[in-house]
Amino acid sequence: MLLERYPQTITLKDGTELVLRAMRKQDDRALMDFFEDLTDADRLYLRNDVSSYRVVREWFNNLNYNRVFPLLAVQDNRIVANATLHRKPFGWMRHVGEIRIVVSPKFRKKGLAQTMFRELIQTAEEADLDKLTAEMAVSQTGAIEVFRKLGFKEETTLKGYIKDAKDKVHDLLIMTLDIRKA
Ligand SMILES: CC(C)(COP(=O)(O)OP(=O)(O)OC[C@H]1O[C@@H](n2cnc3c(N)ncnc32)[C@H](O)[C@@H]1OP(=O)(O)O)[C@@H](O)C(=O)NCCC(=O)NCCS
Repeated sequence: MLLERYPQTITLKDGTELVLRAMRKQDDRALMDFFEDLTDADRLYLRNDVSSYRVVREWFNNLNYNRVFPLLAVQDNRIVANATLHRKPFGWMRHVGEIRIVVSPKFRKKGLAQTMFRELIQTAEEADLDKLTAEMAVSQTGAIEVFRKLGFKEETTLKGYIKDAKDKVHDLLIMTLDIRKA
C-alpha cells in the first residue's frame, strides 16, 4: 500500500513541480550530492556526518522500510529533500515513530516540508502507529514552526543533549503528535 502511492507529482506554492518517491539503493551518490548543497548552518545540527560516504553507504546497506522509510523529493534526477519515518517494529515503543527532514535551501518556504510530513503522517497511520515524535535544537525556530503548524506540541526539553558539529552544546526539544485516539 505504501509504495503504491509513489511516484507522485506535487506542485509547490510557487508552481515548481517535484516528484515524491521512496529512496532506492542506487540513490547513494545523488544523496551525497544533496547533502553537499546544504549550508554550514544546516550542517551544524545534522545528527550524522553526512559528508562521510561510509555513513551514507551504511544507510543504503541497511535499507529496510519497516525501520526507516525515506521519502525523497526529486527534480530532474536531483534530490531536493529527504524526509524519514523511523520506527522500532518490536518492543515497548512499537506504537511510536519519529520523523525528520532536510530540505535543500533553494526549495524552502514553498510548503515542501509540510507536504512531505503529511505523507509520512499518513504512512504512520497506515502502519498503525499512535504517536509521532520530532527532535530538534531549541534554537531551530524554523523547524519548530513547521512542526507546530502540523499540530505537534512541545513535550519536553532535555538539557545539553545536542552537541553540534562545532562541539557547542544545545538543549534538545522533543515535539509530539497523537495520530490516533486511544
Ligand atoms: C525546517 C525546514 C525543514 C523547513 O522546510 P520548508 O520546506 O521550508 O518548510 P515549509 O515551506 O513546508 O514551511 C511550513 C510552514 O513553516 C513555516 N516556516 C518554515 N521555515 C520557517 C522558518 N525558518 N522560520 C519561520 N517559519 C518557517 C513556513 O512559513 C510555513 O508556514 P505557512 O504554511 O504558514 O507558510 C528546512 O528549513 C530545513 O531543511 N532545515 C534544516 C534541517 C532541519 O532543521 N530539519 C528539521 C528538524 S527534523
